[in-house]
Amino acid sequence: MAKKFTLSEFDIMQTLGTGSFGRVKLARVKATGEFVALKILKKAEILRLKQVDHVISEFSILRTIRHPFLVNLIGYTQDDRYLYLGLEYISGGELFTYLRNIGRLDSGHSKLFAGQIALMFEYLHSMNIIYRDLKPENLLISPDGYLKLTDFGFAKVVEGRTYTLCGTPEYLAPEILLNKGHGKPVDWWTLGVIIYEMLAGIDPFSDEDPMSIYQKILKGKIKFPRNFDKNGKSLVKHILVADLTKRYGNLKNGVNDIKNHRFFAGLDWQRLVQKLIDMPYRPPVKSAGDASNFPHYPDSTTLSPPIKHSDDPFLNW
Ligand SMILES: Nc1ncnc2c1ncn2[C@@H]1O[C@H](COP(=O)(O)OP(=O)(O)O)[C@@H](O)[C@H]1O
Ligand SMILES: [Mg+2]
Repeated sequence: MAKKFTLSEFDIMQTLGTGSFGRVKLARVKATGEFVALKILKKAEILRLKQVDHVISEFSILRTIRHPFLVNLIGYTQDDRYLYLGLEYISGGELFTYLRNIGRLDSGHSKLFAGQIALMFEYLHSMNIIYRDLKPENLLISPDGYLKLTDFGFAKVVEGRTYTLCGTPEYLAPEILLNKGHGKPVDWWTLGVIIYEMLAGIDPFSDEDPMSIYQKILKGKIKFPRNFDKNGKSLVKHILVADLTKRYGNLKNGVNDIKNHRFFAGLDWQRLVQKLIDMPYRPPVKSAGDASNFPHYPDSTTLSPPIKHSDDPFLNW
């Protein structure tokens, strides 16, 4: 259970990542020496960008979920400028950084990571939560080599469809671009994109110009490098399908079409979720508060302006 804490309980340390409404900083609980990742959101920005509903969703979803591959909310607090979400600190860095360093992953490693992502979505969808922002920046690597999904900023509880345009260009499903209403299948689409990206080292619709990315996504033609894993290619082709009545993950067998695909042949799903399979890569982590797997960010010196109590939708948190 996430508890309410006070800021004075922490020593706030360096920035781990920056995002739309603020930044995530490493913090140490003075009393216990434990480390947490503090996601610090600027209230004024949330209001300006009309993202109150998304932030409320993020918070309430974080409070409900509990799964070995999802980041856990430990506690939260606020002042008149910021909201603070205290998350368990995942010290191995982003999959994004690892993938950029290593280029691409072999099929064995991709299978283990893709399997974990499939299980994350299976769990979230069972609670009618769609995630909507899968990308390597939001997947963190634990010291044991297993993934943890962070950033529930676009996650939403939905039965059926929703219409808000959100996500990241390279990972947007065609039905989001066409504003037809979207639901759980968008997450499966992003799984297809990330499997491609892990195996190829580049995403399937990459382009410097967002408009060209969108055109490629809508055209639905995917080019595979010659040495691309054959089973991976078959699975990706079953997932990156614009037609929702044909997209794997969204058919009558649900996630099982994905889990039983030959790309995952030999994977013991039970042992995977219990973290009993040794991961091929364990990030170098020297101590609990080691932040060397994250890039260095200059500290910000400007304070976000405080907002008036009467304008503050978060007061009763
Ligand atoms: N629990 C965590 N442990 C370590 N780093 C984290 C954690 N949560 C987020 N981060 C880092 O902060 C970055 C931004 O956090 P995120 O929640 O994705 O914010 P945004 O919604 O702004 O994208 C992440 O990409 C990651 O690098
Ligand atoms: Mg993010």
